[in-house]
Amino acid sequence: IEEFDDSKNMFLIGFMGTGKTTISNILGILTGMKVYDMDEEIVKKAGMSINDIFEKFGENHFRDIETEVVCELSKKEGAIISCGGGAVLRSENVEYMKNNGNIFLLRATPETVYERVKDSKDRPILNEDMSIDHISALMNKRRDIYEECANVKVDTDDLSAFEVAMEIIGKS
Ligand code: S3P
Repeated sequence: IEEFDDSKNMFLIGFMGTGKTTISNILGILTGMKVYDMDEEIVKKAGMSINDIFEKFGENHFRDIETEVVCELSKKEGAIISCGGGAVLRSENVEYMKNNGNIFLLRATPETVYERVKDSKDRPILNEDMSIDHISALMNKRRDIYEECANVKVDTDDLSAFEVAMEIIGKS
């Protein structure tokens, strides 16, 4: 891929089930950049699953670890960073990202998200109510935050993962 700036971090953000992890891995293969997954780093740091962190210590504690991980991963150079769906909820996290790379937003409709996450058991935010209505309500609450902080936005509903990755590269 010519004329692609692989020295700047790429933060992939978006709601759960918009494909951040999958697209990050494809981008890693296409660009040769190193890929980090925020949720994976959180699990490593806490030594337990995301469900367990929420259950034992609550969401706030999870967000504290998430902020530490955002801060640490922001120090990488030329990395692809797959963010957790809620990683932009704290404005300090968004500042870290803005100051250390470009932010890419993956969008999807609640219906698409539902299809992608309905069998997942490790998403505490949705465990209680895995319905399109709940997904839609949560998405509405977060929409402005996602839209405001992104440099590049991609609608993923009608695209294959490879096509999404190519669109991101094209818009970088
Ligand atoms: C969350 C999204 C999850 C994970 C946690 C909370 C959220 O990441 O960080 O369950 O609040 O949107 P994914 O977007 O990778 O599922």
